[in-house]
Amino acid sequence: MIELDNVRKVYGDGTVAVDDVSLEVPEGETVTLVGPSGCGKTTTMTMVNRLTEITEGDVRIDGESIQDTDVIDLRRNIGYVIQEIGLFEHMTIAENISIVPDLRGWDEERKQERVEELLELIQLPQDVKTQYPANLSGGQRQRVGVARAMAAEPDIILMDEPFGALDPITRDELQDEFLDIQQKLDTTIMFVTHDIDEALKMGDRVAVLRDGELVQYDAPKDLLGSPKNEFVANFIGEDRVLKQLSAVTVREVMNAPQVGEGAGENPLSPDDSLKVALQRIFQQGDPLPVVEDGEVVGQVSEADIQAVTDRRTSEVLQ
Ligand SMILES: Nc1ncnc2c1ncn2[C@@H]1O[C@H](COP(=O)(O)OP(=O)(O)O)[C@@H](O)[C@H]1O
Ligand SMILES: [Mg+2]
Repeated sequence: MIELDNVRKVYGDGTVAVDDVSLEVPEGETVTLVGPSGCGKTTTMTMVNRLTEITEGDVRIDGESIQDTDVIDLRRNIGYVIQEIGLFEHMTIAENISIVPDLRGWDEERKQERVEELLELIQLPQDVKTQYPANLSGGQRQRVGVARAMAAEPDIILMDEPFGALDPITRDELQDEFLDIQQKLDTTIMFVTHDIDEALKMGDRVAVLRDGELVQYDAPKDLLGSPKNEFVANFIGEDRVLKQLSAVTVREVMNAPQVGEGAGENPLSPDDSLKVALQRIFQQGDPLPVVEDGEVVGQVSEADIQAVTDRRTSEVLQ
């Protein structure tokens, strides 16, 4: 777990980049830091691996202050991915990925195995091992950057706009792949982005920053359902209700099934989003049964879905 405890950063020129931010990132979760350019995302994140020294407050990892940890040890246990990742151009892909394992003194065989395993995980062909970064596409390079950060199995990975430089399609692919990878690992991740959609998609929780302050820290559906103020609501955008439909699952709104109700031909699953549910309701009628493990466990109607978005919308407008 990472704890930021009233951290504050004032740069040498007097800029207050981060002002009294406290937040906890539970073990194994991904937290996205989002907000407009200059709001303090990078500063907040780099205080965790001490690339930025804290002015006031503290950061603790598993209860231990990072001030009490040797900075080299600290960074070896924290993977770091940045945009345009800075792969070493004169080193092969395998060598780039092996940097931290190398520092840790892993033997050749173990490094080789790890490189092969990671290439498979990030879906790159094994023959890129001996190639140089210049031979790879932007998306492939970014994948290598992610692999490099994961190489020595760090407990924490920090990612600063890792997919920011990619075209939308490649970006979407990499986001999906990374979500898949993250499900298999138990790494604690801080992920910086200025893109609210990316923040909502990638984060178990989302921290919205403004002018160095933490405005709201919530799970995506709570952020969408109850933005704390107009700034957050505006930042989410006018399509907030549509985003909400994507972020809320059928399980959260379904009612008990009617006695004797059948599964029908194309029932919903509790894990479907309300977006999927609404689309099916438009096609197949209302209400629709919800089926899990072959059993009807509930039903959902258009009104149930509307009630959720209405209720949440009116909470915001008050
Ligand atoms: N090394 C620095 N010296 C002085 N000011 C800085 C430095 N780095 C960042 N800042 C300022 O601190 C604020 C937050 O920057 P940053 O954390 O990079 O924001 P973000 O990542 O959200 O764009 C900005 O006003 C930025 O100009
Ligand atoms: Mg930044």
